[in-house]
Amino acid sequence: MIDALDLSKQYAGRVAIDRLNFQVDRGEIVGFLGPNGAGKSTTMRILSGFMPPTSGRAMVAGYDVFRESLAVRRRVGYMPEMAPLYQDMRVKEYLHFRAELKGLRGRDMRIRTGEVMELCSITDVRRRLIGNLSKGYKQRVALADALVHRPDLLILDEPTNGLDPTQIRQVRELLRSLRQDHTILLSTHILHEVELTCDRVILLHQGKICAQDTPRNLTRQLRATSAVRVELKGAEGEAQKDLQALTGVRKVIPRSRREEGWETYVLRVESQSDVRESIMDLALRKGWKIRELHRQLPTLEDVFVEITAGDGVPAQKG
Ligand SMILES: Nc1ncnc2c1ncn2[C@@H]1O[C@H](COP(=O)(O)OP(=O)(O)O)[C@@H](O)[C@H]1O
Ligand SMILES: [Mg+2]
Repeated sequence: MIDALDLSKQYAGRVAIDRLNFQVDRGEIVGFLGPNGAGKSTTMRILSGFMPPTSGRAMVAGYDVFRESLAVRRRVGYMPEMAPLYQDMRVKEYLHFRAELKGLRGRDMRIRTGEVMELCSITDVRRRLIGNLSKGYKQRVALADALVHRPDLLILDEPTNGLDPTQIRQVRELLRSLRQDHTILLSTHILHEVELTCDRVILLHQGKICAQDTPRNLTRQLRATSAVRVELKGAEGEAQKDLQALTGVRKVIPRSRREEGWETYVLRVESQSDVRESIMDLALRKGWKIRELHRQLPTLEDVFVEITAGDGVPAQKG
């Protein structure tokens, strides 16, 4: 459904996205995850046919987003980050206007706007002025707009941004109900969101893809650098070197000392090895005391922080 090849965009010479390569298959829900400025909105604008890339290309539903942008726009329902809703139009009036812009006419147009209002639970506010609606309702009007021309592909830029937890749940349920008939690419900076909604995650950072996988595998991959925390005494400044020499240890990070004599270290270790046993053996041989030794399994959030903090070389997959 989406095929991006070396997709790049520069604004006034500054790189916003840098040679992105990824695919999205029909029927998938894929999440773009990344901090502010990562390039999520830029990529989505290009894929929706609203802005050309500087170089590279992208095919959406079999059409080139640059050369056949009209065909792309007919097949894509794009919800921009700041949906430009007309504040002084009424909901139904606005959706009729948008549906006509997108080529729907007459009875079909009226039936379809009724359908999307039902789908997005905004029928009860159809006569209200958009400007007077709450953020959650506005968001759902924007979603109804994105859906009205029956697109195969939905590109939703931060669809849950600014919503309260109840509204977020409603949007999430709506997206789930849409998944049978649609391919969905959504962006978010909230990890939990992609864990709950997406089949696959593409992690963007500073305009580059630093990982793409299922939320589960990403977490597992992050687990590839799980951490062990140890607090010990009696090493006389040798601990870091000795711990570093253990098999499976990638990196030893000293933590500031809280108490006289006790030293704390966080060890980045490889996934398969549980180094706790070797640490105990080492401590016995060296005569160290240990009062804390535990393994921390990272969450998706840790993975995200680890990758985006540029701490080590992120694993490139897919
Ligand atoms: N219209 C624009 N003009 C100039 N720079 C822009 C413009 N839009 C985005 N950028 C820059 O491009 C980079 C990526 O931005 P964006 O795609 O909005 O990221 P995200 O949606 O992940 O927050 C940022 O450094 C941003 O400042
Ligand atoms: Mg954005």
